[in-house]
Amino acid sequence: MKHICEPVKVEFDEFRTRYSSLFSCPNPSVDLLLKFLSRRNGKMMRPILVLLVSKCYGEIPESAYHLAAAVELLHQGSLIHDDVVDESEQRRGRRSANAAFDNRMAVLLGDYVVSMALQQITATADIRSVDMLSKLIGTLSEGEINQLNALDYDTLSEDVYFDIISKKTAILFSSCTELSALLSGASSQETQAFREFGHVAGLCFQIMDDILDYHSSQETGKPSGNDMKEGKFTLPAIYALNNSCLDWSGHIKAIRSLSATPEQIKEVTDYTVSNGGIEYAVRKMEELKKQAIQGLPAFISPAIREAFVSYLELITNRAR
Ligand code: IPE
Ligand code: IPE
Ligand code: MG
Ligand code: MG
Ligand code: MG
Repeated sequence: MKHICEPVKVEFDEFRTRYSSLFSCPNPSVDLLLKFLSRRNGKMMRPILVLLVSKCYGEIPESAYHLAAAVELLHQGSLIHDDVVDESEQRRGRRSANAAFDNRMAVLLGDYVVSMALQQITATADIRSVDMLSKLIGTLSEGEINQLNALDYDTLSEDVYFDIISKKTAILFSSCTELSALLSGASSQETQAFREFGHVAGLCFQIMDDILDYHSSQETGKPSGNDMKEGKFTLPAIYALNNSCLDWSGHIKAIRSLSATPEQIKEVTDYTVSNGGIEYAVRKMEELKKQAIQGLPAFISPAIREAFVSYLELITNRAR
């Protein structure tokens, strides 16, 4: 597999330099928090996507660098808040902001980072980007709100799962590709195709993240088994339990009401793993991956097409 950044190596370096320079503030208390964040960069999957789409149209415009920073900052802000909501103490192999400081500080830092994102969106000077990303912040919250409300449901539904992951995760990926195409002067047909690619890549991304929740925290750099501890059933368990001849309703109720014993969680986890839950989720991802590759616009160069394929391979084969 060729590195996903191959066609945008120089531009990605440039982006990283610009991105790091954003993490400083004249107020020493805020500066300390920003330095805490800048020592913990993630994989930068979203900016890479912005750059790759833009590269299909030649030289990457200034506005695309701002878009790339905006989406990474929005992602960063949402992760800081996510760790508060999920009561998660580990992020990117280190202590999460809520664990290193406290919930109050983490909520405020998350807001500060969202403000940084808004400034980067504004710097694109593109009103469509401002409009779309403003709405997107609402959709991310909507996904998380729906996920919390799902704790009151009695049944497990794939449709509900896909609706939640579309809103909390895939929309950020589809905004990366759609806006990057728009900023680069793509036709409406190409923009639509890139939007769809981002959406499907985003679905794959969250399915893989949910599979990784079954892996060890040493591998992933964040707590393992956290989803069920939060009352959350993801694709592997939804499939395995819905296709079981045993009655799991008591376990489901207990997990969703956050009153399950560690033994009950272990029973559901073990059952899911030994009854094809992970394999099913992998199959779903593979189907989506094929769909995404088929939908790529025909005009893009072989080198960039290869990078998009590698990008999807990385999403679905990663360890963290
Ligand atoms: C984690 O995203 C949160 C999800 C949307 C599943 P990433 O796995 O992209 O996080 P970092 O930025 O690389 O840490
Ligand atoms: C994705 O869900 C989080 C966001 C979209 C903000 P998770 O709660 O599963 O993400 P991780 O596993 O903590 O990174
Ligand atoms: Mg989480
Ligand atoms: Mg979460
Ligand atoms: Mg997760």
